[in-house]
Amino acid sequence: MIVVNKELIGLDRVGMTYEAASGPVEALAGISLSVGAGEFVSLVGPSGCGKSTLLRIVAGLRPAAVGTVTVAGRAVREPIPDIGMVFQAPILLKWRSILQNVLLPAELAGQDAGALQGRAQQLLDMAGLSGFGDKLPRELSGGMQQRAALCRALLLDPPLLLMDEPFGALDAMTRDDMALELLRIWGERDLAREARKTVLFVTHSIPEAIFLSDRVVIMSPRPGRIAADLKVDLPRPRTVELRASETFGRLSLEIFRALTGRSGAGTSA
Ligand SMILES: Nc1ncnc2c1ncn2[C@@H]1O[C@H](COP(=O)(O)OP(=O)(O)OP(=O)(O)O)[C@@H](O)[C@H]1O
Ligand SMILES: [Mg+2]
Repeated sequence: MIVVNKELIGLDRVGMTYEAASGPVEALAGISLSVGAGEFVSLVGPSGCGKSTLLRIVAGLRPAAVGTVTVAGRAVREPIPDIGMVFQAPILLKWRSILQNVLLPAELAGQDAGALQGRAQQLLDMAGLSGFGDKLPRELSGGMQQRAALCRALLLDPPLLLMDEPFGALDAMTRDDMALELLRIWGERDLAREARKTVLFVTHSIPEAIFLSDRVVIMSPRPGRIAADLKVDLPRPRTVELRASETFGRLSLEIFRALTGRSGAGTSA
């Protein structure tokens, strides 16, 4: 039986063209996508195919040129509240300490930042940044800054997370640890699906997309269109052992083929 979730994100024939100095750049064309509440969906696609553009449109940071976008049933026309956004670059305020950066969403939302210090500290501990709260961003490595940006996105426990290559600057082992940590925060083990956050996650890593997601959406080169939308039929909670499963291997190959248009024979991903 297919359980149809209540839709949280709905994109209907969305297109986007940038007006660049050299002329118009068509970034997205005819994107129709529905993401259910509590669903974890990854977006993969070649560089420049419009993944970051798509996330910004969902967040209301940029209007779609054509088509409609809804979040929780409402048309998106301006930046939407109640989301956690992790940008491709960490974008921390360089004059504020790491802890003060993590607390920023509370201030912007008019909440008592002091009351959230404990939670901010817990998030920093979770991200392996204990003891770095009073440092300035420039005193941290790129990967550490990215983890601080993740803590900032999680501070207010938003129901929707939009994540643009959040683990791109991390070494492979930290990256795997953060993936497991994200699934824990998402509530894979202890929350019913409806109570989980909805996540739209951009990555260039095929194994990461499979490991984390309920669905992997593959985009074509620019202008980005949806080339394939694959369900990840792996049990949860996900374990590292699942990476060695037949299903994982088959999905990796399917995604690789959809991305490259190649058969996969005699090639290495
Ligand atoms: N502000 C802008 N002005 C003009 N063109 C832009 C702008 N932002 C993005 N583009 C163009 O739109 C296309 C999509 O860009 P986008 O950043 O969404 O791609 P992406 O899929 O996120 O790529 P990557 O994987 O490298 O992050 C690219 O061709 C890019 O050059
Ligand atoms: Mg991008």
